[in-house]
Parts: sequence; structure tokens; C-alpha cells
Amino acid sequence: MSNLSEAYRDYPVNLHIIPIDFHTVESVPESHEWPPHSDCLGTVIDEVSIPVIDLADSNVQKLVRHASENWGIFQVTNHGVPLSVLRGVECEATRLFSLPVKEKLKVLRSPDGATGYGAARISPFFTKFMWHEGFTIIGSSLDHAKQLWPHDYQLFCDVIDEYQKKMKELAHRILLLILKSLDISEEDITSWAAASTNESNAALQLNSYPCCPNPNRAIGLAPHTDSLLLTILNQTHDSSALQIFRDGVGWIPVAPVPDALVVNVGDLLHILSNGKFPSVYHQVIVSEEKHRISVAYFYGPKTDCQIAPLSKIEVPIYRSLSVKEFISIKARHLDKALSFVRI
Ligand code: OGA
Ligand code: NI
Repeated sequence: MSNLSEAYRDYPVNLHIIPIDFHTVESVPESHEWPPHSDCLGTVIDEVSIPVIDLADSNVQKLVRHASENWGIFQVTNHGVPLSVLRGVECEATRLFSLPVKEKLKVLRSPDGATGYGAARISPFFTKFMWHEGFTIIGSSLDHAKQLWPHDYQLFCDVIDEYQKKMKELAHRILLLILKSLDISEEDITSWAAASTNESNAALQLNSYPCCPNPNRAIGLAPHTDSLLLTILNQTHDSSALQIFRDGVGWIPVAPVPDALVVNVGDLLHILSNGKFPSVYHQVIVSEEKHRISVAYFYGPKTDCQIAPLSKIEVPIYRSLSVKEFISIKARHLDKALSFVRI
């Protein structure tokens, strides 16, 4: 058993929250009303910007190391993914979320399911709902696409397949850059290179953040870290909705750079690097005027793979565990998951 869908099914997060019909709401219902951001989420710092790395730069490994170590997040340009592929997936995501609620509910994620339409997996950990709807794909999207568009599903599937293919190549390339920058043994690099080419596991998450009548009292995605090795995010919008938290500083917006992709360190890479490359805590805010679409690709190894701090790294502070075990800990403890893996 080594599949992400199965791991999510075995460790459900009691998720059966159906997103509201965002097309029709005129004010933020109490169920979705969070304390004003200024009260609880801290000040947003606009002056600091996270690193933007040109993947064609001759110094790329050093830049990646610095960004992973100091930020846990960076944006990449010259990544080789054609613009048509980036635009294509946004277009299909927009088409999906624009469907009437009745249609989207045909592919509602089941309570113990991993794929389909629904609220974010982190929702059950919070008392208020998020201003967000999502659609998760693991592997093929064919069954769901056929339910949504019985006579016209091929385009969606083709676009998603192509996007996943490109993301897999890029994630593999970036993972190798990150691993090489960790000064680990050739042996570790070779075995991780093989594992990430042949035995990777990934999920594609389409996110929709509809316009919100009172953005100061709503949240798109509550603060969290991503669970797998790394995430590649396609955020096309021209406004800064994604924010990262920096100790001693506050929330920092990840200002979109045209055609760049955002790469962030996930919990498994945090463990693998013995905390040297920290998984980044992030959240998404919403806007009154702009409906935002983003596409996140979560990349990790097979769920039966063992994860432990890499061998050449100093005294390990995390124990070894399987990806599946980590998913089960995260499903129970969310933000505290890493502390349960500390030695
Ligand atoms: C996520 C996420 C950020 C965004 O899907 O886990 O953090 O900007 N998305 O949509
Ligand atoms: Ni995330």
C-alpha cells in the first residue's frame, strides 16, 4: 500500500464540510466570520520580499540553499514550464469552479475520500469555515471530469495530465537542487533521485477564493504548513493573497511575479533536512473584488517510504517514520505534527 489516496482514506480528518454557494452570499455568515485580521493575525509587512530565483542562474544551487534555509519558500523563473500550460490549468480550474453548485456537488469528496470537490483538508481543525472551495486530483481526473462534463471531459483531463507531467519534472529537478545544496552524501542523493523519479506521489489541488463582501473578517486558507516534500504553486493573480509567517516579523505577502512559480518546503523535507530547511507556515487572505484561482502541486515520495534526517547531517532531532505514519500524525495534530516526530 503506497498510495496517497489510500493514506488519506485510512486517516480521514472527519471532513464533510460542503462549501457554501459563494455566488449568492451577500454578507459573511457567522459560520465564516473570523476575528478581524488586525486583532489576531498580526501586522502584514510589505517591505520584505521573499527570494526570486532564476533557475538558469549559474549560482542556482547556492541561491536555492539560502532561500530554503532562511525562508522555506522562494519563487522560480525560467522554470521551463510553458506559459500555455500554466494558463491552461487556470482556465480549466476557473471553468470548474464556475459551474453551478448542483454540478460541483456531483463530485463532492466523500467523508473519507481524498479527491473531488470540497473544503480544505485543514478545515476540521478550525471552528470557523474558510472562504475557499477546492478540488483535489490524485492521478487521473477522468472519473470526476466525466461526471461534470459527460460529453466534454477530454479537454479538462488533457490539460490536467499535461500540467501534472510538467510539475513532476520540475519538482524532481528542484528537489535534486535542494538535496545537493544540503551537502549530503552522493549515496543519499542517488537514492533520493531514484525514489523521486520512479516512486513519487503527488496531489494536485485547485483552489478557488471567491470575492468576499468583508475580506477583513474572512480567511481564504487558515495558517498551515504543507505536509509533503515540496509544493509548487501557480498563483496567477496580480494581488498578494498568499502570506508567510516569519518569526519576529509577522505575515509577509508573497507578491506574484509574472509567470513565476512559488516553491515551498513541506514537512517531509523539514524532517529530511533535520529542520535545516523549515516547512513554511502560510495562509491566504481574500479580496472584495477579485476571485482568485491558484493551483498547488504537492510532491512527495510513496507513502511506504521511510523518512529520516539524511545520513550526513549532524545529530538527528527527528526520528524515522513512514510517509503514511506522518500523514496519520498530521491528520490528528495538524500544526503540532512535527513536534510528535522530535526525538
Ligand atoms: C495550499 C495553499 C496557497 C494559495 O493549497 O496548501 O497553501 O495561494 N495554497 O492558494
Ligand atoms: Ni499550503
